[in-house]
Amino acid sequence: MNVRNRVEVMHGVNLDQLGRRPAAVYGDLTYARLQQQVEGYARDLGLQVRFFQTNAESEFVEHLHRLDGLSDAIVMNPGAWTHYAWAIRDALEIAALPTVEVHLSAVDQREAWRRVSVVRDLCVASVSGQGAEGYRVALSRLKEELT
Ligand code: DQA
Repeated sequence: MNVRNRVEVMHGVNLDQLGRRPAAVYGDLTYARLQQQVEGYARDLGLQVRFFQTNAESEFVEHLHRLDGLSDAIVMNPGAWTHYAWAIRDALEIAALPTVEVHLSAVDQREAWRRVSVVRDLCVASVSGQGAEGYRVALSRLKEELT
């Protein structure tokens, strides 16, 4: 039987700037450190992660188009695109892979516009407000989905 363990960890707009974002919301976590932590969680779970980050919506969409045959699941934090980028929602639908939406901050307890997610209905789960730890929760959920 084929092992399905390849998870694409996709970050959207401004997430490369972690470390320069409001510390009260995001702490001092940097994107590099976040990647290291996620690598560790994946190792513990026997999953293989690959990272992708861009500030260009078209690149994010095209990356989703390219996942066919390369990934078994997705962890996605689209940043602000979460709240309005319907093209990303459509591309995720095309990718048709089990996906968990993750947000470092508690999006449901911040501004009203952050409570909307255009990708949530396509995701097997949504995790927010747990910082980097939320990615462990997301990967565990996907591990269940893949086995
Ligand atoms: C975020 C929440 C979004 O509302 C925001 O625009 C981000 C980060 C989070 O991880 O908490 O860029 O996705």
